Amino acid sequence: MRVLVIGSGAREHALLLALSRDPAVTALMCAPGNAGTAAVAEQHDVDAASTEAVVALVRELEPDLVVIGPEVPLVLGVADAVRKVGVPCFGPSAAAAQIEGSKAFAKDVMAAAGVRTAHAEIVDTPANLDAALDRFGPTWVVKDDRLAGGKGVVVSADRLVARDHAAELLEKGHPVLLESFLDGPEVSLFCLVDGEDVVPLLPAQDHKRVGDDDTGPNTGGMGAYTPLPWLPDGMVSQIVDEVVKPVAREMVERGCPFSGLLYAGLAIGKEGPAVVEFNCRFGDPETQCVLEMLETPLAGHLLATATGTLAEAGPLTWKDGSAVTVVIAAENYPGPPRTGDVIAGSDAPGVLHAGTARRDDGELVSAGGRVLSVVGYGADLATAREDAYSKVNQIHLPGSHHRTDIGLGAAEGRISIPS
Ligand code: GLY
Repeated sequence: MRVLVIGSGAREHALLLALSRDPAVTALMCAPGNAGTAAVAEQHDVDAASTEAVVALVRELEPDLVVIGPEVPLVLGVADAVRKVGVPCFGPSAAAAQIEGSKAFAKDVMAAAGVRTAHAEIVDTPANLDAALDRFGPTWVVKDDRLAGGKGVVVSADRLVARDHAAELLEKGHPVLLESFLDGPEVSLFCLVDGEDVVPLLPAQDHKRVGDDDTGPNTGGMGAYTPLPWLPDGMVSQIVDEVVKPVAREMVERGCPFSGLLYAGLAIGKEGPAVVEFNCRFGDPETQCVLEMLETPLAGHLLATATGTLAEAGPLTWKDGSAVTVVIAAENYPGPPRTGDVIAGSDAPGVLHAGTARRDDGELVSAGGRVLSVVGYGADLATAREDAYSKVNQIHLPGSHHRTDIGLGAAEGRISIPS
């Protein structure tokens, strides 16, 4: 099977590495990729968000499967365009990708499907902001209603902080989504979904704030771990039955069946799971550790999802133990990152690339905010953390920063569900 992966992050690097371990895969291609994906796949310098450019590449390469990583091309309809030229594509249609692209659409689907989620209101004019803030908080949850790579969210008990963020978004012409705060630890559950058929992956937890102890602004994700030792047995099945299957069924009934990876971001409160958000693709940085644990060859399940035969593919199997992702970010991230710094010591297995590039002289340099994802594996979470951080400590990138507490609360038994 010849597989083309679209995207340029550590998530795509992880997908390529998992695909490269599948004996059915005979060739791997990536567009546009990064300096790390170049070591595992043939690179094509194509804009992932340009339907015309991706379709031209697909016509040229004639892959057996296209896998689209990021949300932007999915929301823009790149998967529809690939399918139109007759090539199986892993990734939802533009209509189904609205589950991530439009928070109003997602809320409507959840209401119709009877799925628990936060109460929400859209504010689209500054004149309505103060009265709307009075109906929420503390704690306030203020989201950019447009795609913002995880950086459009502010969660704060300080009304002024929440108000400033909302006012800044409105000034840019972005509608603001105010949500009630959902209590309880968060879970990212990724599911392969093909119409009404659902196959869950291992549950993971992302660390979204930039600093240790969940301090500082939100980011695209600074690290993750899997599985979750604090999650009760049966919770994954409960989430599949109470959340993912009803939403998948509702989307079929609306005439926009979901095909691809449905990512349920949930808070596990005392009344059970409630949806924080849905995404229409693999999450980053959770994918990097989740795929580290995968035993089943990946390409078969992605192709089955893309061709409507997931029901025949069976469940996924997983290694014992735990995996941890630690993100190394460039100076000033999540603000505009400093780029062009030379990266040293990143050759160990499990060091995945995101914002990296090769300079003309061959040096590996930083080229984005989240630069590397370092994946550790171990018999338990504590040893997986040790493995990840021993690799992190070998890497030198001037000005970089990373969290030192990825998975620490879970390893120390400090995470619990409110009762
Ligand atoms: N882990 C957050 C995201 O992928 O959006």
